[in-house]
Amino acid sequence: MSQPHLRTVVVLAAGEGKRMKSSLPKVLHPLLGRTLLGHVLAAAAPLGADRTVVVVGHGADQVRGHLAEVAPEAVAVLQERQLGTGHAVRIALDAVPEAAGTVVVINGDVPLLRPETVDALVSAHEGAGAAATVLAAEVPDPTGLGRIVRDAEGRLAQIVEERDATAEQRALREINAGIYAFDVARLREALGKLSTDNDQGEEYLTDVFGLLRDAGEPVAVHCAADHVETLGCNDRVELAALRRLLRDRVNEGWMRTGVSILDPHTTWIDVTVTVERDAVIDQNTQLQGTTTVGAGATVGPDSTLIDTTVGEGASVVRTHAVGAEVGPRATVGPFAYLRPAAKLAERAKVGTFVEVKNSEVGAGAKVPHLSYVGDATIGAKANIGAATIFVNYDGVKKHRTVVGEAAFIGCDTSLIAPVEVGPGAYVAAGSAITQDVPPGALGVTRAPQRSIDGWVARKRAGTASAEAARRAAEGASDGAGAASEGD
Ligand code: UD1
Ligand code: MG
Repeated sequence: MSQPHLRTVVVLAAGEGKRMKSSLPKVLHPLLGRTLLGHVLAAAAPLGADRTVVVVGHGADQVRGHLAEVAPEAVAVLQERQLGTGHAVRIALDAVPEAAGTVVVINGDVPLLRPETVDALVSAHEGAGAAATVLAAEVPDPTGLGRIVRDAEGRLAQIVEERDATAEQRALREINAGIYAFDVARLREALGKLSTDNDQGEEYLTDVFGLLRDAGEPVAVHCAADHVETLGCNDRVELAALRRLLRDRVNEGWMRTGVSILDPHTTWIDVTVTVERDAVIDQNTQLQGTTTVGAGATVGPDSTLIDTTVGEGASVVRTHAVGAEVGPRATVGPFAYLRPAAKLAERAKVGTFVEVKNSEVGAGAKVPHLSYVGDATIGAKANIGAATIFVNYDGVKKHRTVVGEAAFIGCDTSLIAPVEVGPGAYVAAGSAITQDVPPGALGVTRAPQRSIDGWVARKRAGTASAEAARRAAEGASDGAGAASEGD
């Protein structure tokens, strides 16, 4: 009886990625919601392998730290010196002597690889009972890549690196994608026979194919349906190109599920985001991290949402939001800034030039203009007048403000925390509130107004103001007795 698919995944991620010119290891560069390595691990995840081994080297500590976050079950194996892909796989397998069945080897820098393609490669390999199967692709420009060399019958003869290839072999456009399936026992045996007799003096994993074939073992080529999936990343120009390709793939995916993306070229959606039907994403918008957009909601233009939840039918316009929750049919912006733990209930409104942090804005409550709301609880249907500031910080500590249901805060108010405005209470515009306002009361802290008659004529004589005041006084006396009615 054959084993029920015992599988091991080995990801090669020890290289430096010199051409990235970065202090960050190449495989940790981000690409629409995951690192390059994270994308590769995600492509392999549906295989349900018994174990995953990641070969680390350059920036090993950083890569291990990342693995602990995204794939804690993966085993990191250190390759101290990068002596070649064959050497890397050899030490990976040394770390898992119990591995049996199929081993899938993937270069760590092919982030566009799809799970379906990995699955098709493994199925073809296992179905054919091959010793080794390589994923190949026809590419427009094979420069720098290993070439698939076939024999007269069209079967795989060997894989030749470009620098070791003849002119005739270099003309081939069928390349090795750097993704393979092997029978682990036969792979171990062949790895033991690798030489370093090549231009780089390295142990090439690719030489395993020639060795196995020469030993009469069945080796196979599996062709990728779309060569784009096999594109690697060597510098930041290629990284940007991959980002555009992935953007298009992601946007197309959402549009096909019923999401409107008005300008797909300026809409960047992380692979970790979800968007529901009939949502409309307007131009220049980035949706990142764990963001979700509910059915029929509108986001954009010119908005960045990070780890933010947008409820059904909500509208978020020209907004930057991080770690926020926007309730169903709530409206946000234009020009709003939602910070972590800003929670807007159903139909709440956060308007223009409003910043909200660590605060709940109750159902139907409104903060329409020019406010800072920090560490507050605002009750349902409350109205916060323009330029109200929730003064949460005393220089040492943060304090909370509570505004009750249907309370009304007049414009240009400072609510100096800790303080509470009761349900149904009013606060007069321009107040600085330091004491609780009881339910239904009016809180007012303004000094009574007084007007000093004739002050401008005495203190600002000869100015335009004095002249305007003089004309107004004349007009008033001319028109005396002729005041219009009903004003
Ligand atoms: C490799 C293949 C080439 C293929 C190409 C696809 C070999 C010999 N050649 O070439 O046929 O067309 O990938 O992109 O395998 N790595 C280690 N340890 C090492 C060396 C490499 O972990 O000692 C890792 C790298 O970090 C990288 C991967 O293996 O993720 C591939 O190595 P790289 O040097 O990029 O190989 P290529 O020259 O691109
Ligand atoms: Mg490479």
